[in-house]
Amino acid sequence: MSFDHYKKTIEEGDTVILFLGFDNMIQFIVDKSRTHQTKYGAVKHKDLIGVRYGSKIQCSKGYAHVLHPTSELWTQNLPHRTQILYSTDISFITFLLDLKPGAVVVEAGTGSGSLSHALLRIITPGGHLHTFDFHEQRVQKADQEFKEHGFGDSVTVSQRDVLTDGFGLDGIADAIFLDLPAPWDVVQHAKKAFKRLGGRLCSFSPCIEQVQRVSDTLHKQHFSEIQTYECLTRSFDVRTINMPMPDLGCSTDSYSSSSHSDSIHKPVIGQTVDDDDDGGDDTKKKPNTGKSPLRKDTSHSEADDDDDEDEPTTKQARNEGNKEVMMKKTSLHKSPSSYVFKSGITPNLMTGHTGYLTFATLFPE
Ligand SMILES: C[S@@+](CC[C@H](N)C(=O)[O-])C[C@H]1O[C@@H](n2cnc3c(N)ncnc32)[C@H](O)[C@@H]1O
Repeated sequence: MSFDHYKKTIEEGDTVILFLGFDNMIQFIVDKSRTHQTKYGAVKHKDLIGVRYGSKIQCSKGYAHVLHPTSELWTQNLPHRTQILYSTDISFITFLLDLKPGAVVVEAGTGSGSLSHALLRIITPGGHLHTFDFHEQRVQKADQEFKEHGFGDSVTVSQRDVLTDGFGLDGIADAIFLDLPAPWDVVQHAKKAFKRLGGRLCSFSPCIEQVQRVSDTLHKQHFSEIQTYECLTRSFDVRTINMPMPDLGCSTDSYSSSSHSDSIHKPVIGQTVDDDDDGGDDTKKKPNTGKSPLRKDTSHSEADDDDDEDEPTTKQARNEGNKEVMMKKTSLHKSPSSYVFKSGITPNLMTGHTGYLTFATLFPE
């Protein structure tokens, strides 16, 4: 099998990703004598052979999907032997290192091979990755995984201390990536490994002091375009927001003393009261009929833009007459003038700092 050539059906010896949910995946090599236990029950490997990638498969207590591995899925599921780089940093690294098929890349250290898989996917066919680590078991395991994943011919894994011994490569690299505790001590060796036409270098460091030292060394070694970035992912959840409108007194007819009880029975256009605030589909809760001063005073809003979506529900509510309106009375009592709309909300907890990426260019002398 190969991570960069998709095939249709699962065979013995393939690495597969068993998808049980976005936060729940497992990877294994298909071996017909084995069975895997999942939260949805047992999966017999022999039942997977011949099944199309992407299929939904029955487990003893539920179901799962079997996916073809990609470098992104591998990053999410690989066995951690070290800290690893994740897809947010990886995408930026591969983009700003200007990688393409045929490129020659030098990497230190290999670690768990998370970045290496992404590099290999991009530079094949025709390219080559020279990856270095001084840790014997990590080198052996990474080498074994690259072979299992169809990258054996495109990568050379070497056990070497690049700080003391350098890369032993001369004039071959288009790009160099460093994920080491003291990258500044490797810059001079990296310089030798670059093609005579030069190339791009990137160094990943968790601390800003490391960034300062490596930037200083890069400058002294005549690298140009030295720039440091921090990549942070910011996701948004679409939620239903229930915004209470302040009661500023009884100045409008809907809240006049004589008509107050009537007015609170009138539904307020453009809003529902989403007490559960669950972000779910609340269209059924929207009475959306009648007119209200609140709506008149509110300028064109996102809720208006939703009209296409809401229209059938509104008509349905009208057709059903007072039935649904009556069901809303309780909610309207609770919050007669709240305004409900959908919005993108950032989660309270966001993925934080991983490290800084310092890029530099070596131009021909
Ligand atoms: C954080 S890990 C790299 C993780 C890798 N980027 C990934 O995405 O899986 C750093 C690796 O550098 C290796 N290393 C540290 N100093 C080294 C040196 N002087 N020469 C070679 N490898 C070194 C460590 O053994 C470790 O495996």
